[in-house]
Amino acid sequence: MSRTRVLSGMRPTGSLHIGHLKSVLEIWRKLQYENDCFFLVADIHALTTDWEESKELRKRTIEMVKDWIASGISPEKSVIMVQSDIKQHTELFTYLSMITPIGLLERNPTYKEFLQEYGEQAANLSNLGFFSYPVLQASDILIYKAHKVPVGKDQVPHIEIARDIAEKFNRTFGEVFPLPQAVLSEVPKILGTDGRKMSKSYGNAIVLTEDINSIKEKIKTYMTDTARKTKKDPGEPERCPLYTLHKIFTPLQEREFIEDSCRKAKFGCLDCKKILTEHMIPEIEEFQTKRNEVNRDDLINDVIMEGNKKAQEFAEKTMEDVRKAIFG
Ligand code: TRP
Repeated sequence: MSRTRVLSGMRPTGSLHIGHLKSVLEIWRKLQYENDCFFLVADIHALTTDWEESKELRKRTIEMVKDWIASGISPEKSVIMVQSDIKQHTELFTYLSMITPIGLLERNPTYKEFLQEYGEQAANLSNLGFFSYPVLQASDILIYKAHKVPVGKDQVPHIEIARDIAEKFNRTFGEVFPLPQAVLSEVPKILGTDGRKMSKSYGNAIVLTEDINSIKEKIKTYMTDTARKTKKDPGEPERCPLYTLHKIFTPLQEREFIEDSCRKAKFGCLDCKKILTEHMIPEIEEFQTKRNEVNRDDLINDVIMEGNKKAQEFAEKTMEDVRKAIFG
């Protein structure tokens, strides 16, 4: 029996932060053991917002793949590939676009959220590529006949669109694609230094490659429960941005102690931050050590070349099925 296939991807938009490490990358790493995994650098997708920085994308691609490998994504176990190197993605995109209703894309709820996040650049987003973003994403998924797609919650509507398109293709031309399913990370939302969602574009993130001393400084000034004015006031962890980091780095038992100490004003925020640092810093140091080991562009280029080759073979086989289904 063949194994379940997993596909996921990221746009190479810049340095990854601790949220990525503890959510999506951790799931990818675990899925590698029992599934055939494909991990895609979605550099064409990155062009929908960052086309003015197109010349940066190769470098960002290489840096991101370093982050992936340092976090435990193994080029031996998984296929790592780059979207713009595999022409079959855009070929399938064209065929899929013929059967994708415009209404399906107009209803896409991430469309609005995205416009919000990239507010100032919104004028740059009035292009066809941005509108058809989910169709290209569907082709990323379907070309590897993926069964499972591990993503964050914001991407679920895109996976549903991919599923709808796959269903329609199968109904129209004949059965080619398995229907993909989103695999959601259980990880809670991680808030940044200023209490907003952690995001590189907000400048409130802890970046994985950041200097350890700079991370320690950020923790010292990290926003906590703003209703807790002094050490003597009781606090509420569920209102505390810093506590979202405890949720991903600190073991459960110790978290119970922290919650109790905070709610009963038994310790101050600085004590709480110290405990976080003890758990978080070694993990980031371990990541950075591994990253230094793979910090070689020639090595990463080899990984990508190998991955592209495997991905391309698979993708071309799918395209043979697709062309046959459509044209007979
Ligand atoms: N749209 C995804 C994001 O912004 C990245 C992506 C591109 C992707 N192609 C994909 C994710 C295919 C899952 C499957 O995060």
